Amino acid sequence: MKLSTLTLAATLAAGAAIAGPVAPADVVYTEDGAVEASLSGAPGDAANGAKVMTTKSLGNCVACHQITALSEAPFHGNVGPSLDGVADRWNEAELRGILSNAKATYEGTVMPAYYVVDGFTRPGNAYTGKAAEGPLDPLLSAQQIEDVVAFLSTLKEE
Ligand code: HEC
Repeated sequence: MKLSTLTLAATLAAGAAIAGPVAPADVVYTEDGAVEASLSGAPGDAANGAKVMTTKSLGNCVACHQITALSEAPFHGNVGPSLDGVADRWNEAELRGILSNAKATYEGTVMPAYYVVDGFTRPGNAYTGKAAEGPLDPLLSAQQIEDVVAFLSTLKEE
């Protein structure tokens, strides 16, 4: 019984590696910090991306960035640059990279890395095949990152 449980777990893990989202530790960055491949494999939903950006418990981007298209959101800080016209400055892969791990584009930035988990090699968990526990989840899911990339791609000046 123990063996069949292990076999099932291995099968599920193999399936997830093919069809599921790219795990934070497996994201491939270019030298400049861009991420070419979709994290989720599914197209982003721009409307949901806007929601992620203005929701305090999710992206909370408006705490640091002014965005005219989201001006109904309650607070716009100016720690970071305005994101108006950001799609004229960065392509999709670069935007995905900035979101996943801003530190790969801007060394030492205060912008959070939304798709990075630290210390994911946990001795106690290494042999169980269990998913990482709560505190190790990235700030945003693979699909939420794709949704935000889709929204940012609409921010063009001309
Ligand atoms: C704690 C503040 C903070 C938060 C929260 C934050 N950012 Fe940033 N962001 C920055 C700073 C600061 C920069 C400029 C890079 C630098 O010099 O450090 C930046 C840069 C950027 C850039 C490049 C901008 C340009 O015009 O070149 C994009 C795109 C961006 N952020 C998107 C986002 C999104 C989307 C979110 C939410 C998911 C977010 N940021 C959350 C601080 C923040």
